[in-house]
Amino acid sequence: MISLIAAYGKKREIGLNNNLLWHIPADLKNFVKYTKGKPIIVGRKTFESFKSPLPGREHLVLTTNEDYKYEHEQVKIFNSVQDIMSYVEEKSFPEVVVCGGAKIYDLFFPFCDLLYLSEIEWSGEADTYFTNYDLAGFEVAEQKVYEETEKTPKWTFKIYKKHS
Ligand SMILES: NC(=O)c1ccc[n+]([C@@H]2O[C@H](COP(=O)([O-])OP(=O)(O)OC[C@H]3O[C@@H](n4cnc5c(N)ncnc54)[C@H](OP(=O)(O)O)[C@@H]3O)[C@@H](O)[C@H]2O)c1
Repeated sequence: MISLIAAYGKKREIGLNNNLLWHIPADLKNFVKYTKGKPIIVGRKTFESFKSPLPGREHLVLTTNEDYKYEHEQVKIFNSVQDIMSYVEEKSFPEVVVCGGAKIYDLFFPFCDLLYLSEIEWSGEADTYFTNYDLAGFEVAEQKVYEETEKTPKWTFKIYKKHS
């Protein structure tokens, strides 16, 4: 199964200067909860935005650069969506999570059956946006509202499942 995890603002903002836009500890906790122990698919830019590979997750990194190298047992480099899909099918992973960025979400959304989405009540400068996908084929399986605090905006976490 392929799933997708993303956090986006009111105008669907997801990033600026290859960084995230907010620091919401409970959302990061959710990110860890839903990705740890699973392979993750990331674009080269998102991968490079991490200080180092995220522990306990195999990183499947997509780049057009055939010479791109990253020596780490938890990192595998791919040059096409098809190569990633073949690898995922060959390994029969129970779940693989698409972790962005924008380009990678667009490429893999058609394969996703499960979406972990954080809708953040925040708006501001950004240079990367989450596409307004048609979710007609999905239903909300879980939803939790997190109220605004002194340090964090209000946000809603939703899990969408594709209709069977
Ligand atoms: N809020 C969130 O949930 C969230 C999640 C993830 C990321 N982000 C943010 O999003 C931003 C990064 O996203 P992004 O959209 O700019 O970049 P990205 O999707 O992470 O990476 C784009 C790169 O992926 C590679 N790529 C794209 N399509 C490809 C294809 N068809 N075949 C082979 N390689 C391909 C290319 O790498 P090469 O240039 O090496 O060829 C391309 O430059 C950052 O600000 C990050 O913090 C936010």
